[in-house]
Amino acid sequence: MKRVSFDRIADEYDKTRELPEDAMNSVLDALCEEMPESSGILDVGSGTARFALPLSRRGFSVVGIDISEEMLGISRCKGFDRLARADSSSLPFRDAAFDFALAVHVFHLLEDWTRTVAEIRRVLRDSLMSVVIENETKWFGETYHDLLREHGYDKDHPGVGEKGLAERVKPRLVKEVASVTHHRAADRVIDRLDERCFSSQWEVPEELHRAVIAEMRERWSGEEFENSYDVLVYAWDAGQLDELVTEAR
Ligand SMILES: C[S@@+](CC[C@H](N)C(=O)[O-])C[C@H]1O[C@@H](n2cnc3c(N)ncnc32)[C@H](O)[C@@H]1O
Repeated sequence: MKRVSFDRIADEYDKTRELPEDAMNSVLDALCEEMPESSGILDVGSGTARFALPLSRRGFSVVGIDISEEMLGISRCKGFDRLARADSSSLPFRDAAFDFALAVHVFHLLEDWTRTVAEIRRVLRDSLMSVVIENETKWFGETYHDLLREHGYDKDHPGVGEKGLAERVKPRLVKEVASVTHHRAADRVIDRLDERCFSSQWEVPEELHRAVIAEMRERWSGEEFENSYDVLVYAWDAGQLDELVTEAR
């Protein structure tokens, strides 16, 4: 089974995915409201401990797993080391070992996402939580993919994404916790895209990538665009994970 490790982007990851501080605090507050104090949480695909570290500082007993040694290394440098290198489709934990699981921006990467849902279900006592971004305005970076499609390239991520899970089985909790609007220089985004900072770009052939980046620079260099999105917290209880697996079969 193909895996999408983030080794190649580990050093840049936090710069490209961070939420504004107040939005991040609202997300953490919402997660804390849902999970009783000092609950045990498994962060699946914990990356750079973007959520695992602040949640552990708020008193939860958090363990992170990830397949990327480099992402785990960044977590350790930040001071979070309750980590295991593991594949989400085969979790190295006993049944019902955790109260909650957290999976953020992970399921779109997983070709065999039902195996991960089943594994999370196995180690879980209460709920699977996630943090989801819903774009209000189309993110300028999407233009890269529009242009790829114009060139006949239409490959997408192998998995379904947390929103895809919600379309299959409605989460018991869907809570809007923050709205963010900011302005960005197009050149800044194009530079990130040029560096292939996003996993959706990693398989794009180099020649096509270069052509699309050149087109973007020609059309939008020097411009500014607005980016506006909502941040939501989702929760599925353990029984709903059974439904997700059954529904997918
Ligand atoms: C987009 S990052 C999200 C990281 C973190 N959850 C966050 O929101 O900042 C996806 C992470 O999932 C990890 N990952 C991808 N496939 C995985 C798998 N099969 N098992 C465990 N981790 C995986 C990647 O290495 C990467 O660190």
